[in-house]
Amino acid sequence: MRLLFLGDIVGNAGCNAIKKNLKKILQSNEIDFVVANGENSYSSGVGISENITNEMFSCGIDVITTGNHVWDQKETLEHIKKENRLLRPLNMSNELPGQGFNIYKSNNGFRVGVLNLIGNVFMKKSDNVFETSKKFLSSNKLKENFDFLIVDFHGETTSEKMAIGHFFDGNATLVVGTHTHVPTNDSRVLEKGTAYQTDAGMCGVYDSVIGMNKEISLKRFLNISSEKWLPARGEATICGVIVDANADTGLAINIKSFIYG
Ligand SMILES: [Fe+2]
Repeated sequence: MRLLFLGDIVGNAGCNAIKKNLKKILQSNEIDFVVANGENSYSSGVGISENITNEMFSCGIDVITTGNHVWDQKETLEHIKKENRLLRPLNMSNELPGQGFNIYKSNNGFRVGVLNLIGNVFMKKSDNVFETSKKFLSSNKLKENFDFLIVDFHGETTSEKMAIGHFFDGNATLVVGTHTHVPTNDSRVLEKGTAYQTDAGMCGVYDSVIGMNKEISLKRFLNISSEKWLPARGEATICGVIVDANADTGLAINIKSFIYG
């Protein structure tokens, strides 16, 4: 079983790169299941729309995860209720619409669980992610409830992400971080068989500040303008991880970082 996880798709450039390249990437790498974080895919770089969601599914993405920007386009509050392939972090308030976990069928007939979580450190308030994870694992077991489990941990700090990786070790196929838009060089299989990378990076323009126009970002950091953030224009690079997993155990055999473009 070969899984592809793609980091945050940023703005039009990120979406265009997916539209242009994903089908051939899936074919040439013989990918069986694809998850991507889509919370920055809207043209403004924040949020997602129903149109974009459908376009991304038609390119071959099976499930879209999100994070702190999930509600930035208000239509998502309604759309997420009827689209179970679009997730929001499980440890957000229960009062909010949508789901943080679901089980999907891969093309080759396996049950793939996808869990979306959001960190607590330097992020907007949400439930304690370790408590939510503990509760989740008490009633969801690899090879019982699903054949594979992919966890997107949307968080700011490397330490919190690494801790969640170890927390799920042996109980998930992959734990991968999103949100910082910078791919980390630490992909590995943890002690008990969970593939891990601190951050998948982004599908966006890298000649930028985390996908946003670098001139505007610099002016804002220098306090000489409060011009609105805009995604950078140009050719986007597609970043993520590819994981080979064992169908008998649901655990990882290997993980490699994926960079295209
Ligand atoms: Fe984010």
